[in-house]
Amino acid sequence: MVIVLANSKGGVGKSTLAVHLAVWLYDRGHRVALVDADVQSSSSVWLQEAEPSVTVRSSRTPEEVVGVVRELQRTHDFVIGDGQATLDDQSRTLLLLADLAILPVTPSILDVRSVQQATATLRYAQELNGGRPRGCLVLNRMRRRDVISREVRVAGSSLGADLCASQVRDLQAFREAAQQGNVVTRMGPRAAEAAADVERCFEELLLKMEGTDE
Ligand SMILES: Nc1ncnc2c1ncn2[C@@H]1O[C@H](COP(=O)(O)OP(=O)(O)OP(=O)(O)O)[C@@H](O)[C@H]1O
Ligand SMILES: [Mg+2]
Repeated sequence: MVIVLANSKGGVGKSTLAVHLAVWLYDRGHRVALVDADVQSSSSVWLQEAEPSVTVRSSRTPEEVVGVVRELQRTHDFVIGDGQATLDDQSRTLLLLADLAILPVTPSILDVRSVQQATATLRYAQELNGGRPRGCLVLNRMRRRDVISREVRVAGSSLGADLCASQVRDLQAFREAAQQGNVVTRMGPRAAEAAADVERCFEELLLKMEGTDE
């Protein structure tokens, strides 16, 4: 299965969630690979530090990303793509290869217009690809006071994406994990809240993919 973290907005948590998802799936016994499409290579460096047994590859062009994803798919259960914050051809290609697109959204862009922009490439891929990939908006860096407007809640389906019910809170443990080259699900009690958030979210996403949540 190919899962791509996508959003043309920068700094919404694509790399953070990509690394966490990769290690979480690995810890559940799956063969996992990550394709880093970002020129900064932040997720591949982080992931190699966190779990060297996960295959990490980078790619810079649409042609390269097709080859790399297809090759990794043959030998891995999950190929995770960490996209760049652009609408370039490589980001579009990654989405065309995906079964599931996870679109992290932060409170700073929690209005319908921004979410509409963030999902534009997803709809482009779905239009070309007979409705694939399935899209899921994940609310990330949420604080207690953040309000999700009714419009955003209902906008999802018309924008080609479901809204994941499990939200990921804005927690210091995520920043520490990045600094330490680790993941919150392996950091013990001090990161328990953060670990619970990503676990709930990933479980929900996988259930959706398996179709048991239909
Ligand atoms: N749930 C969270 N709680 C606290 N900090 C977070 C959370 N998720 C991400 N961050 C922090 O937000 C910043 C941006 O996250 P990240 O690099 O994962 O975003 P990105 O979408 O990959 O960015 P880019 O578009 O630049 O690739 C990082 O400093 C990261 O540590
Ligand atoms: Mg990133």
